[in-house]
Amino acid sequence: MRRLIPALVLAAGALVLVVVLLAGPLSPSPDPGRTESRPTATADAAPARVSTVLSSEFEDGTDGWEGLGSAEVATREGDARSGASSLLVSGRSEAWNGALLDLEGVLTAGTEHVLSVWVRLAPGTATPEGAGDGGDAESAHAGESAADEGATDELQLTVRRDADGERVHDHLVSTPVGTDAWVELRTAYTLPEGSQHPELYVESTGTLADLLVDDVTVTKEAPPVQTDIPALRDALAGDFPVGTAVGRQDLDGAPAELLTRHFSTITPENALKPSSLQPHEGEFTFEQADQVLDFAVAHGLAVHGHTLVWHRSTPDWFFEAPDGRQLGQSPEDQALLLARLEAHVRAVAGHLQERYGDANPVRTWDVVNEAIDPEEDDGLRRNQWYAVLGPEYVAHAFRIAREVFGPDTVLYLNDYGTEGAAKRRAAADVVRRLLDEGVPVDGVGHQMHVNLGVPVSRIEDTIATFEDLGVRQAVTELDVAIARSPDEVLDRTPPERLDEQGLYYQDLLAAFRRHPGAVSSLSVWGLYDARSWLRAWPTERPYEAPLLFDGDLQAKPAYWGLVDPARLD
Ligand code: XIL
Repeated sequence: MRRLIPALVLAAGALVLVVVLLAGPLSPSPDPGRTESRPTATADAAPARVSTVLSSEFEDGTDGWEGLGSAEVATREGDARSGASSLLVSGRSEAWNGALLDLEGVLTAGTEHVLSVWVRLAPGTATPEGAGDGGDAESAHAGESAADEGATDELQLTVRRDADGERVHDHLVSTPVGTDAWVELRTAYTLPEGSQHPELYVESTGTLADLLVDDVTVTKEAPPVQTDIPALRDALAGDFPVGTAVGRQDLDGAPAELLTRHFSTITPENALKPSSLQPHEGEFTFEQADQVLDFAVAHGLAVHGHTLVWHRSTPDWFFEAPDGRQLGQSPEDQALLLARLEAHVRAVAGHLQERYGDANPVRTWDVVNEAIDPEEDDGLRRNQWYAVLGPEYVAHAFRIAREVFGPDTVLYLNDYGTEGAAKRRAAADVVRRLLDEGVPVDGVGHQMHVNLGVPVSRIEDTIATFEDLGVRQAVTELDVAIARSPDEVLDRTPPERLDEQGLYYQDLLAAFRRHPGAVSSLSVWGLYDARSWLRAWPTERPYEAPLLFDGDLQAKPAYWGLVDPARLD
């Protein structure tokens, strides 16, 4: 019976997947347990082969959104349509004061896009007398719903742009919104040719209440996925499995086709982070993770788990005592944090076992993420884990992970910047120390977020250093920004940089090939350029293009650099 249940779950998952693929993309599926009531699949749903040109999930910052007028924006933990956080818009003194996002470089003029923004009035905020009545709004999805009953005002989606020296406001769609349910503002929109400085904003028609915004997507129709080019995983079959980070936007339509055609492993981009899985103590939300992992199982993809212990994407409650004070270093506080860590890991492992049994696709984990700081004597970043548990927190995390996941799960210490000499040295010292102490660290994950200014020789030195240490190595989050430094922000995507990037990927692969067997897997951090986190972090960079496929899901020189450098001129 234990075997039968996972098998049934898988069969059901595969069936759902087939139905979804046949039906074409729908709006993001409702998050079970969340209040929302409007239908999402309608005649104006996104075209069948869509690519996501922008998404804001507010899981780790405001994703480039700004306050408009007197309004301010900040992330808000706890009130999310999906994941752990949304965007809170407060301090509004006029109805038009809302949230604004620069769409420069995001929309292609003359091409139809579908804009979708989920909104809600922040619970507990008063709506001023006489504010909108939620009456006969031109709703994106008119129909009976709980949202209508509780609605207190209308929210509106507007594109502001310059045309012929004039500022133009395209009021696209408005709908009644209350505090009780998330409501989707959804519309098709084509930016007229010749427009400049397009900006998207969410405003109201009356209320000055605080607003919540979440799950913003801008999609457009994608050309067919190329079927006449080699699959990446085949081209690199003699080297290592190739993977990519994925979010739920990648699981249907053209992106899913691209994903399953080229990759053999995936890393859930955000769905397995502590803030996604356990936003409140003891309340686990596995829906997003399940979506990604079900897809992996249905398509035979291995999954790299990311991540268990990190200073980011970890809810504050982890580090707070029941009375609200910050945990300190008393034995009781230390015991509490350790118990929480263990409970988290056990719950995650338990869920995977229950849902997938022997078919659990998660075979490797980033147990501790971004722990290294070369500026510190012991090489360890001072974070909240360290503040309570001291340097030992790293060993505790690995011991717990080994005990809970067993000997067959590969456990990584994952970090960025390991190609830099100081960080490389610090990481190697920490790993050597852990191994000497018998801590079950199996490998080092190199995130490898680099740019054209980082010499490949530095990366090779890093691979050689850890090869000497005898630990496994995985390239976990590779992207090669076409900028020459972390600070360079481009105002277009120059073709010559894309060519140079093709050569960079070629050189990188050649470097790995000089160390056969040293790299166990290579994953890029995103399926195609428009999905790259670098477009929004640490600042908006709409022309950054660090990945292997472009915004139309077509192979770039970067892809050919890995697959067939003869195709680079
Ligand atoms: C990023 C995701 O790509 C974003 O979607 C999210 O908003 C923030 O986190 N190093 C890591 C990853 O270990 O978890 C980060 O992922 C990128 C940097």
